[in-house]
Amino acid sequence: MVSYKTLGFVNTKEMFKKAMAGKYAIPAYNFNNMEQLQAIIDGCGQSKSPVILQVSKGARQYANEVLLRYMGQGAVEMAKAKGYSIPVALHLDHGDSFETCKSCIDSGFSSVMIDGSHLSFAENIELTKKVVEYAHQFDVTVEGELGVLAGVEDEVSSEHSHYTQPAEVEEFVAKTGVDSLAISIGTSHGAFKFKPEQCTLNADGVLVPPELRFDILEEIEKLIPGFPIVLHGSSSVVPQYVKIINENGGKLDAAVGIPAEQLRKAAKSAVCKINIDSDGRLVFTALIRKVFADKPGEFDPRKYLGPARDELTKMIVDKNKTVLGSAGQA
Ligand code: G3H
Ligand code: 13P
Ligand code: ZN
Repeated sequence: MVSYKTLGFVNTKEMFKKAMAGKYAIPAYNFNNMEQLQAIIDGCGQSKSPVILQVSKGARQYANEVLLRYMGQGAVEMAKAKGYSIPVALHLDHGDSFETCKSCIDSGFSSVMIDGSHLSFAENIELTKKVVEYAHQFDVTVEGELGVLAGVEDEVSSEHSHYTQPAEVEEFVAKTGVDSLAISIGTSHGAFKFKPEQCTLNADGVLVPPELRFDILEEIEKLIPGFPIVLHGSSSVVPQYVKIINENGGKLDAAVGIPAEQLRKAAKSAVCKINIDSDGRLVFTALIRKVFADKPGEFDPRKYLGPARDELTKMIVDKNKTVLGSAGQA
Protein backbone atom coordinates (compact mmCIF):
# COMPACT_ATOMS: atom_id res chain seq x y z
CA MET A 1 0.00 0.00 0.00
CA VAL A 2 1.47 3.36 -1.09
CA SER A 3 -0.27 6.56 -0.04
CA TYR A 4 -0.57 9.18 -2.76
CA LYS A 5 0.41 11.74 -0.14
CA THR A 6 3.95 10.40 0.01
CA LEU A 7 4.17 10.64 -3.78
CA GLY A 8 3.26 14.33 -3.82
CA PHE A 9 -0.26 14.07 -5.29
CA VAL A 10 -3.33 15.77 -3.88
CA ASN A 11 -6.91 14.54 -3.96
CA THR A 12 -9.54 16.62 -5.76
CA LYS A 13 -11.38 18.02 -2.73
CA GLU A 14 -9.55 21.34 -2.37
CA MET A 15 -9.20 21.70 -6.16
CA PHE A 16 -12.98 21.46 -6.63
CA LYS A 17 -13.75 23.77 -3.70
CA LYS A 18 -11.59 26.49 -5.26
CA ALA A 19 -12.89 25.82 -8.77
CA MET A 20 -16.48 26.13 -7.55
CA ALA A 21 -15.78 29.41 -5.75
CA GLY A 22 -13.66 30.80 -8.60
CA LYS A 23 -16.08 29.73 -11.35
CA TYR A 24 -13.59 27.75 -13.42
CA ALA A 25 -12.99 24.02 -14.09
CA ILE A 26 -9.98 21.81 -13.40
CA PRO A 27 -8.63 20.15 -16.55
CA ALA A 28 -8.43 16.35 -16.54
CA TYR A 29 -6.10 15.32 -19.34
CA ASN A 30 -5.64 11.64 -20.25
CA PHE A 31 -2.17 10.27 -20.90
CA ASN A 32 -0.81 6.98 -22.22
CA ASN A 33 2.82 7.80 -22.93
CA MET A 34 5.75 9.94 -21.85
CA GLU A 35 5.31 12.71 -24.40
CA GLN A 36 1.67 13.29 -23.51
CA LEU A 37 2.58 13.41 -19.83
CA GLN A 38 5.42 15.89 -20.45
CA ALA A 39 3.04 18.11 -22.42
CA ILE A 40 0.40 18.03 -19.66
CA ILE A 41 2.91 18.99 -16.96
CA ASP A 42 4.57 21.67 -19.09
CA GLY A 43 1.25 23.04 -20.36
CA CYS A 44 -0.26 23.22 -16.86
CA GLY A 45 3.02 24.36 -15.29
CA GLN A 46 3.47 27.18 -17.79
CA SER A 47 -0.15 28.30 -17.40
CA LYS A 48 -0.05 27.82 -13.59
CA SER A 49 -3.07 25.54 -13.62
CA PRO A 50 -3.97 22.75 -11.20
CA VAL A 51 -4.21 19.47 -13.08
CA ILE A 52 -5.76 16.03 -12.91
CA LEU A 53 -3.61 13.40 -14.64
CA GLN A 54 -6.10 10.92 -15.95
CA VAL A 55 -5.41 7.23 -16.54
CA SER A 56 -7.91 4.89 -18.18
CA LYS A 57 -8.02 1.10 -17.88
CA GLY A 58 -6.80 1.00 -21.48
CA ALA A 59 -3.87 3.27 -20.60
CA ARG A 60 -2.90 0.96 -17.73
CA GLN A 61 -2.92 -1.99 -20.13
CA TYR A 62 -1.04 -0.11 -22.87
CA ALA A 63 1.73 1.42 -20.81
CA ASN A 64 1.85 -1.20 -18.03
CA GLU A 65 0.10 -0.27 -14.80
CA VAL A 66 3.29 -0.32 -12.72
CA LEU A 67 5.22 1.87 -15.13
CA LEU A 68 2.29 4.24 -15.50
CA ARG A 69 2.06 4.87 -11.77
CA TYR A 70 5.79 5.62 -11.65
CA MET A 71 5.36 7.94 -14.62
CA GLY A 72 2.74 9.82 -12.62
CA GLN A 73 5.14 10.03 -9.70
CA GLY A 74 7.89 11.15 -12.07
CA ALA A 75 5.60 13.88 -13.37
CA VAL A 76 5.28 15.38 -9.87
CA GLU A 77 9.07 15.35 -9.53
CA MET A 78 9.51 16.88 -12.99
CA ALA A 79 7.08 19.66 -12.07
CA LYS A 80 9.06 20.39 -8.90
CA ALA A 81 12.39 20.32 -10.71
CA LYS A 82 11.07 22.78 -13.29
CA GLY A 83 9.81 25.11 -10.58
CA TYR A 84 6.12 24.60 -11.35
CA SER A 85 4.15 24.98 -8.17
CA ILE A 86 0.92 23.27 -9.22
CA PRO A 87 -1.34 20.77 -7.45
CA VAL A 88 -1.38 17.43 -9.29
CA ALA A 89 -3.96 14.66 -8.81
CA LEU A 90 -3.57 11.14 -10.23
CA HIS A 91 -7.01 9.88 -11.19
CA LEU A 92 -8.40 6.59 -12.53
CA ASP A 93 -10.73 7.34 -15.43
CA HIS A 94 -13.80 5.08 -15.90
CA GLY A 95 -12.90 2.53 -13.24
CA ASP A 96 -14.99 -0.52 -14.14
CA SER A 97 -14.85 -2.53 -10.92
CA PHE A 98 -14.12 -2.32 -7.21
CA GLU A 99 -10.92 -4.31 -7.85
CA THR A 100 -9.56 -1.84 -10.44
CA CYS A 101 -10.31 1.08 -8.11
CA LYS A 102 -8.69 -0.71 -5.15
CA SER A 103 -5.60 -1.53 -7.19
CA CYS A 104 -5.21 2.16 -8.11
CA ILE A 105 -5.84 3.38 -4.55
CA ASP A 106 -3.33 0.85 -3.18
CA SER A 107 -0.67 1.92 -5.67
CA GLY A 108 -0.87 5.67 -5.03
CA PHE A 109 -3.75 7.21 -6.99
CA SER A 110 -5.32 10.18 -5.21
CA SER A 111 -8.69 9.94 -6.93
CA VAL A 112 -10.74 7.28 -8.73
CA MET A 113 -13.83 7.16 -10.86
CA ILE A 114 -16.18 4.22 -10.50
CA ASP A 115 -18.30 4.15 -13.60
CA GLY A 116 -21.49 2.29 -12.76
CA SER A 117 -23.51 4.31 -15.25
CA HIS A 118 -24.38 1.19 -17.28
CA LEU A 119 -25.83 -0.56 -14.22
CA SER A 120 -29.30 -0.21 -12.73
CA PHE A 121 -29.71 2.71 -10.32
CA ALA A 122 -29.63 0.39 -7.30
CA GLU A 123 -26.56 -1.54 -8.53
CA ASN A 124 -24.76 1.70 -9.38
CA ILE A 125 -25.40 2.95 -5.82
CA GLU A 126 -24.20 -0.33 -4.30
CA LEU A 127 -20.95 -0.48 -6.31
CA THR A 128 -20.17 3.22 -5.93
CA LYS A 129 -20.78 3.08 -2.17
CA LYS A 130 -18.40 0.12 -1.84
CA VAL A 131 -15.63 2.05 -3.64
CA VAL A 132 -16.30 5.20 -1.58
CA GLU A 133 -16.10 3.26 1.70
CA TYR A 134 -12.71 1.85 0.72
CA ALA A 135 -11.32 5.05 -0.84
CA HIS A 136 -12.30 7.37 2.00
CA GLN A 137 -10.27 5.34 4.50
CA PHE A 138 -7.24 6.66 2.65
CA ASP A 139 -8.57 10.16 1.86
CA VAL A 140 -8.88 9.26 -1.82
CA THR A 141 -11.71 11.09 -3.60
CA VAL A 142 -14.31 9.28 -5.72
CA GLU A 143 -16.20 10.33 -8.85
CA GLY A 144 -19.44 8.52 -9.68
CA GLU A 145 -21.58 8.73 -12.79
CA LEU A 146 -25.31 8.95 -13.46
CA GLY A 147 -26.62 8.95 -17.01
CA VAL A 148 -24.97 7.45 -20.09
CA LEU A 149 -22.85 9.26 -22.66
CA ALA A 150 -23.06 8.32 -26.33
CA GLY A 151 -19.93 7.48 -28.31
CA VAL A 152 -17.61 4.55 -28.79
CA GLU A 153 -14.07 4.14 -27.50
CA ASP A 154 -11.83 1.22 -26.65
CA GLU A 155 -13.04 0.59 -23.12
CA VAL A 156 -16.01 2.89 -22.94
CA SER A 157 -18.89 2.41 -25.29
CA SER A 158 -22.54 3.20 -25.57
CA GLU A 159 -24.63 3.40 -28.69
CA HIS A 160 -27.03 5.97 -27.32
CA SER A 161 -26.89 8.54 -24.59
CA HIS A 162 -29.33 8.76 -21.71
CA TYR A 163 -29.37 12.14 -20.09
CA THR A 164 -28.91 12.21 -16.33
CA GLN A 165 -32.27 12.30 -14.58
CA PRO A 166 -32.18 15.14 -12.06
CA ALA A 167 -34.68 13.26 -9.89
CA GLU A 168 -31.99 10.65 -9.14
CA VAL A 169 -29.01 12.82 -8.18
CA GLU A 170 -29.86 13.69 -4.56
CA GLU A 171 -30.44 10.09 -3.58
CA PHE A 172 -27.34 8.90 -5.44
CA VAL A 173 -25.06 11.45 -3.82
CA ALA A 174 -26.53 10.91 -0.34
CA LYS A 175 -26.49 7.11 -0.47
CA THR A 176 -23.04 6.68 -2.03
CA GLY A 177 -21.05 9.47 -0.38
CA VAL A 178 -19.28 10.31 -3.66
CA ASP A 179 -17.17 13.47 -3.87
CA SER A 180 -18.16 14.43 -7.42
CA LEU A 181 -20.68 13.36 -10.03
CA ALA A 182 -20.24 12.92 -13.78
CA ILE A 183 -23.43 13.71 -15.67
CA SER A 184 -24.73 13.27 -19.20
CA ILE A 185 -26.05 16.47 -20.82
CA GLY A 186 -25.16 15.87 -24.46
CA THR A 187 -21.37 15.44 -24.49
CA SER A 188 -19.91 12.15 -25.73
CA HIS A 189 -16.57 10.43 -26.05
CA GLY A 190 -14.37 10.52 -29.15
CA ALA A 191 -13.97 12.76 -32.20
CA PHE A 192 -17.42 12.15 -33.72
CA LYS A 193 -19.76 13.50 -31.09
CA PHE A 194 -22.65 14.40 -33.36
CA LYS A 195 -23.96 13.20 -36.70
CA PRO A 196 -23.73 15.87 -39.43
CA GLU A 197 -27.53 15.87 -39.70
CA GLN A 198 -27.75 16.95 -36.05
CA CYS A 199 -25.59 20.01 -36.82
CA THR A 200 -25.98 23.24 -38.76
CA LEU A 201 -23.30 24.66 -41.08
CA ASN A 202 -21.92 28.08 -40.15
CA ALA A 203 -20.63 30.72 -42.59
CA ASP A 204 -17.09 29.21 -42.50
CA GLY A 205 -18.41 25.79 -43.47
CA VAL A 206 -17.87 24.45 -39.93
CA LEU A 207 -20.46 22.04 -38.46
CA VAL A 208 -22.11 23.54 -35.37
CA PRO A 209 -23.64 20.96 -33.00
CA PRO A 210 -26.79 21.42 -30.91
CA GLU A 211 -26.46 23.08 -27.48
CA LEU A 212 -25.69 20.97 -24.45
CA ARG A 213 -28.65 20.47 -22.09
CA PHE A 214 -27.82 23.34 -19.74
CA ASP A 215 -31.38 23.11 -18.44
CA ILE A 216 -30.59 19.67 -16.96
CA LEU A 217 -27.35 20.99 -15.47
CA GLU A 218 -29.21 23.90 -13.85
CA GLU A 219 -31.83 21.60 -12.40
CA ILE A 220 -29.11 19.38 -10.93
CA GLU A 221 -27.31 22.41 -9.48
CA LYS A 222 -30.50 23.43 -7.69
CA LEU A 223 -30.98 19.96 -6.21
CA ILE A 224 -27.40 19.51 -4.97
CA PRO A 225 -26.10 23.06 -4.56
CA GLY A 226 -22.33 23.42 -4.38
CA PHE A 227 -21.73 19.78 -5.33
CA PRO A 228 -18.89 19.26 -7.87
CA ILE A 229 -20.10 18.15 -11.31
CA VAL A 230 -17.89 16.51 -13.94
CA LEU A 231 -18.20 16.64 -17.71
CA HIS A 232 -16.78 13.76 -19.72
CA GLY A 233 -16.50 13.76 -23.50
CA SER A 234 -15.57 17.43 -23.58
CA SER A 235 -13.03 17.69 -26.38
CA SER A 236 -13.74 20.47 -28.84
CA VAL A 237 -12.28 18.52 -31.82
CA VAL A 238 -10.46 21.65 -32.98
CA PRO A 239 -11.04 22.02 -36.77
CA GLN A 240 -7.46 23.29 -37.27
CA TYR A 241 -6.02 19.88 -36.25
CA VAL A 242 -8.62 17.84 -38.12
CA LYS A 243 -7.63 19.86 -41.22
CA ILE A 244 -3.90 19.07 -40.76
CA ILE A 245 -4.75 15.37 -40.38
CA ASN A 246 -6.92 15.35 -43.52
CA GLU A 247 -4.35 17.35 -45.54
CA ASN A 248 -1.61 14.88 -44.68
CA GLY A 249 -3.13 11.54 -45.62
CA GLY A 250 -5.68 11.17 -42.82
CA LYS A 251 -9.38 10.68 -43.22
CA LEU A 252 -11.49 12.12 -40.46
CA ASP A 253 -14.70 13.16 -42.11
CA ALA A 254 -17.33 15.08 -40.16
CA ALA A 255 -15.42 15.04 -36.89
CA VAL A 256 -17.26 17.33 -34.51
CA GLY A 257 -16.79 18.28 -30.83
CA ILE A 258 -18.16 20.55 -28.11
CA PRO A 259 -17.75 24.23 -29.01
CA ALA A 260 -15.38 26.12 -26.68
CA GLU A 261 -18.06 28.71 -25.74
CA GLN A 262 -20.29 25.98 -24.34
CA LEU A 263 -17.43 24.57 -22.26
CA ARG A 264 -16.63 28.08 -21.01
CA LYS A 265 -20.24 28.45 -19.92
CA ALA A 266 -20.15 25.05 -18.19
CA ALA A 267 -16.87 25.88 -16.41
CA LYS A 268 -18.54 28.88 -14.76
CA SER A 269 -21.25 26.63 -13.27
CA ALA A 270 -20.96 23.74 -10.80
CA VAL A 271 -18.89 21.88 -13.40
CA CYS A 272 -15.53 21.60 -11.62
CA LYS A 273 -13.77 19.01 -13.82
CA ILE A 274 -13.67 18.81 -17.61
CA ASN A 275 -12.26 15.66 -19.27
CA ILE A 276 -10.15 15.99 -22.39
CA ASP A 277 -8.58 13.08 -24.22
CA SER A 278 -9.54 13.18 -27.91
CA ASP A 279 -8.19 16.72 -28.46
CA GLY A 280 -4.77 15.54 -27.31
CA ARG A 281 -4.96 12.51 -29.63
CA LEU A 282 -5.85 14.75 -32.57
CA VAL A 283 -2.96 17.17 -31.96
CA PHE A 284 -0.53 14.27 -31.74
CA THR A 285 -1.80 12.62 -34.90
CA ALA A 286 -1.85 15.93 -36.80
CA LEU A 287 1.77 16.80 -36.01
CA ILE A 288 3.10 13.29 -36.60
CA ARG A 289 1.31 13.07 -39.95
CA LYS A 290 2.70 16.47 -40.92
CA VAL A 291 6.30 15.52 -40.08
CA PHE A 292 5.93 12.24 -42.00
CA ALA A 293 4.50 14.07 -45.03
CA ASP A 294 7.06 16.92 -44.95
CA LYS A 295 10.10 14.75 -44.16
CA PRO A 296 9.57 11.22 -45.48
CA GLY A 297 13.17 10.32 -44.63
CA GLU A 298 12.72 10.98 -40.91
CA PHE A 299 12.95 7.90 -38.71
CA ASP A 300 14.09 9.21 -35.33
CA PRO A 301 10.97 9.06 -33.08
CA ARG A 302 12.16 12.15 -31.22
CA LYS A 303 11.83 14.13 -34.46
CA TYR A 304 8.11 13.41 -34.80
CA LEU A 305 7.05 12.81 -31.20
CA GLY A 306 8.88 15.99 -30.12
CA PRO A 307 6.86 18.35 -32.37
CA ALA A 308 3.67 16.53 -31.37
CA ARG A 309 4.52 17.03 -27.71
CA ASP A 310 5.33 20.72 -28.22
CA GLU A 311 2.06 21.40 -30.03
CA LEU A 312 0.11 19.54 -27.33
CA THR A 313 1.79 21.74 -24.69
CA LYS A 314 0.60 24.84 -26.59
CA MET A 315 -2.92 23.47 -26.91
CA ILE A 316 -3.09 22.77 -23.18
CA VAL A 317 -1.89 26.28 -22.28
CA ASP A 318 -4.52 27.71 -24.60
CA LYS A 319 -7.33 25.51 -23.24
CA ASN A 320 -6.50 26.32 -19.63
CA LYS A 321 -6.47 30.03 -20.44
CA THR A 322 -9.37 30.41 -22.80
CA VAL A 323 -11.74 27.51 -22.12
CA LEU A 324 -11.43 26.14 -18.57
CA GLY A 325 -10.32 29.35 -16.87
CA SER A 326 -7.91 27.32 -14.71
CA ALA A 327 -4.79 29.22 -15.82
CA GLY A 328 -3.27 31.24 -12.98
CA GLN A 329 -5.34 29.38 -10.35
CA ALA A 330 -2.61 27.03 -9.03
O1 G3H B 1 -13.26 8.30 -21.69
C1 G3H B 1 -12.39 7.58 -22.13
C2 G3H B 1 -11.02 8.06 -22.37
O2 G3H B 1 -10.98 8.87 -23.51
C3 G3H B 1 -10.04 6.93 -22.39
O3 G3H B 1 -10.10 6.20 -23.56
O4 G3H B 1 -10.19 3.81 -22.89
O5 G3H B 1 -9.32 4.51 -25.14
O6 G3H B 1 -7.99 4.95 -23.07
P1 G3H B 1 -9.36 4.75 -23.68
P1 13P C 1 -13.12 13.20 -25.12
O1 13P C 1 -13.19 11.97 -25.95
O2 13P C 1 -14.15 14.20 -25.55
O3 13P C 1 -11.77 13.81 -25.07
O4 13P C 1 -13.52 12.80 -23.61
C1 13P C 1 -12.56 12.23 -22.76
C2 13P C 1 -13.14 11.68 -21.51
O5 13P C 1 -14.27 11.87 -21.16
C3 13P C 1 -12.26 10.87 -20.67
O6 13P C 1 -12.92 10.30 -19.60
ZN1 ZN D 1 -14.97 9.77 -20.04
